[in-house]
Amino acid sequence: MKNRFGKTAGLALACALCLLLTGGCAPSARPAASVQDESQVLLGFSQLGSESAWRIGNTKSVQEAAKRAGVQLMYENAEQKQEKQIKAIRSFIAYQVDVIAFSPIVEDGWDNVLREAKNAGIPVLTTDRRINTSDQSLFVGFVGSDFYEEGRKAGRFVLRKMADADHVNIAEISGTVDSTPMRQRGAGFRGVLEGDERFTIIASVSGDFLRSKGKECMRELLQQYGDIDVLFSHNDAMTLGAIEAIEEAGLVPGKDIVIVTVDGEQAAIDLLKQGRINCVVECTPLIGDIIMELAKKLAAGETIPRDTYSEERVFTEFDTDLDSLAAREY
Ligand code: AHR
Repeated sequence: MKNRFGKTAGLALACALCLLLTGGCAPSARPAASVQDESQVLLGFSQLGSESAWRIGNTKSVQEAAKRAGVQLMYENAEQKQEKQIKAIRSFIAYQVDVIAFSPIVEDGWDNVLREAKNAGIPVLTTDRRINTSDQSLFVGFVGSDFYEEGRKAGRFVLRKMADADHVNIAEISGTVDSTPMRQRGAGFRGVLEGDERFTIIASVSGDFLRSKGKECMRELLQQYGDIDVLFSHNDAMTLGAIEAIEEAGLVPGKDIVIVTVDGEQAAIDLLKQGRINCVVECTPLIGDIIMELAKKLAAGETIPRDTYSEERVFTEFDTDLDSLAAREY
């Protein structure tokens, strides 16, 4: 753990600067217990937004795990803006937190701020999503899902479901452009289907992981392409929107169009049970406990594995145990 005197002095300096610049420190920006319990690990966590039930579940998981682990959390929500994430990371550096964790909205553009963290001696963990950098020393590890494998699971389901089909037209609604899940889920999916000429991805559009955009995208896809056999949607939020558009067009989701989605929110599992979704690839947001465990190790100066992956499964219409599934936590 870093020198606590240093942290207190750093807090004082950051507040003094704040006072000079703004006439006062924003109370929410100052961790209340920072000078009360000097033994606590101070973790700065920058969440990318609140675009989906998945993301809200992820935030809750991090906040509750911090309380359980006795980790003091400085939490910032960037509301889908990379500039806000960069600003949050700079504020964590000014506070001299022990560890920084963040879920990068996109992969590029982090080198400068992460170099500042490295120069300040603060280890950085990327959670959920990854960054693209030529300097691998700018972050110490990643914790989250194997998005390639999620895409492969989706592809394997399509192969099984459409085993008897002569030709399959696939429409894809992907997530935020340049984000890790968008890139890796798409690549994993294509990797499984490539070489089999029966499958054609007729369109791929981005719905930014948002329900409203999922609906918009599906509406346009249906207008543009008469014959869509399979929808591969990169998250449940967009899928829920797409299903609304499919039903408004007088089609039956799960029958007229095979629906493959990612995340595993309760709402998607319910639709799977009703036959309106065919396959749900799990992507768990419940990574708070492992983030705290790794943050504590980093604060104690220990090394951590470069990659820590969540264990995830896939739920399909072929499963016989769907009714006994435990309630989802997101
Ligand atoms: O990065 C994980 C993805 O981000 C989830 O699939 C999605 O729901 C969220 O917005």
